Amino acid sequence: MDRIRIVGGRPLHGAIPISGAKNAALPLMIAGLLTEETLILDNVPRLADVAQLQRILGNHGVDILVPGKKKGATVDDGQTLHISAAKIIDTTAPYELVSKMRASFWVVAPLVARMGEAKVSMPGGCAIGTRPVDLLIMALEQLGATIEIEGGYVIARAKNGLKGGEVVFPKVTVGGTHTALMAAALANGTSVIENAAREPEIVDVADCLNKMGAKITGAGTSRIVVEGVPRLKGARHSVLPDRIETGTYAMAVAMTGGDVMLQGARPELLQAALDVLVKSGAQVSVTNEGIRVSRNGGGLAPVDVTTAPFPEFPTDLQAQLMALMTRARGTSHITETIFENRFMHVQELARLGAQIRLEGQTALIEGVEKLKGAPVMATDLRASVSLVIAALAAEGETMVNRVYHLDRGFERLEDKLGRCGADVSRISG
Ligand code: UD1
Repeated sequence: MDRIRIVGGRPLHGAIPISGAKNAALPLMIAGLLTEETLILDNVPRLADVAQLQRILGNHGVDILVPGKKKGATVDDGQTLHISAAKIIDTTAPYELVSKMRASFWVVAPLVARMGEAKVSMPGGCAIGTRPVDLLIMALEQLGATIEIEGGYVIARAKNGLKGGEVVFPKVTVGGTHTALMAAALANGTSVIENAAREPEIVDVADCLNKMGAKITGAGTSRIVVEGVPRLKGARHSVLPDRIETGTYAMAVAMTGGDVMLQGARPELLQAALDVLVKSGAQVSVTNEGIRVSRNGGGLAPVDVTTAPFPEFPTDLQAQLMALMTRARGTSHITETIFENRFMHVQELARLGAQIRLEGQTALIEGVEKLKGAPVMATDLRASVSLVIAALAAEGETMVNRVYHLDRGFERLEDKLGRCGADVSRISG
């Protein structure tokens, strides 16, 4: 198992290219199941989760072609995937595959919409709470599917196709909204999705579906209307930049001090997080090239932040912000409202000298003068990168174990940070 070794204390200077968003690339790849024509996706990040979804789609009979390197291309360019689901030969997504990545459960929607049936294992995924799929199932039922649950599998059927309907989510769910969108795109009639997630990745998927011939309006608002069409066609779409990767590196710079251009980043995708960074004492400016983040000299101010669905502060940046606040001058409060068990990083940050107390869903972080390197263990994707941020400012060496969590969501992290002057290396084996 690979480990990452970090020797802290160096400011970051330079440029970091931002990759395509993992959380858009995954549903976009899944949307490829909706058509027998080829969907071409550009700017797809090179991540373990993307490779895993390629295997899952392959099991359904989807061919994915990755063209060779083009002249002038660099490692910083995302990959292009040609996804062809001309023939779906298997509508079952087995436990061994789905349990490795939660989002792969979402294949249920395009499979039942196009093939009239799907048998998909209940997911596993990050250890950050119970993360049920009841609302995804509710959405499919509202659109005319019959659902059976048997032996850990969800079996969805709609022999005569899905029907337009009204889906009212009692709570905002990203996966539920993706599911409803993909199912409604091929349903017979018009569907309305109320209390829809407004995340930028939903908008990106809706844009791509519209290029494929879907009739979706209102994506990015809490009411989405989908006029179903009998079939979708191929299209070409470029994945939007990763706002979580952007926010993570922005926090790393605020932590170490220095000056870094986050190339290709778009501020409107993470305004709430940028506002928090500015409050904490970082400088943030926007240019044609991307977002520039710096912090020189002055200390960090504590902040009070509550996670909530977009456009509020994202739960996927909560752990990183907590790492940053371990060095603030005063006490910060961070409240997690999306997932009930998303404080696994607290104990690991404490190993580096952080002072954090939990009161229910709120973490009280008492800023300390310095952190000290130690061996730590990653527990989930975002928690693991919070340990990297803390380690970059800690005195001495930190060894981050279980790096496979990082590889699921951060492309070439050690390379991107190393190019900005961090002392980061990967130890294989
Ligand atoms: C997606 C993101 C994840 C992010 C999360 C919240 C991807 C691949 N993953 O996950 O990185 O942290 O959004 O922004 O895009 N819920 C139910 N029943 C359901 C579905 C969800 O109760 O059927 C609950 C969840 O337990 C959670 C809340 O709804 O408390 C939000 O979850 P959801 O938005 O669905 O998260 P994901 O789509 O799994």
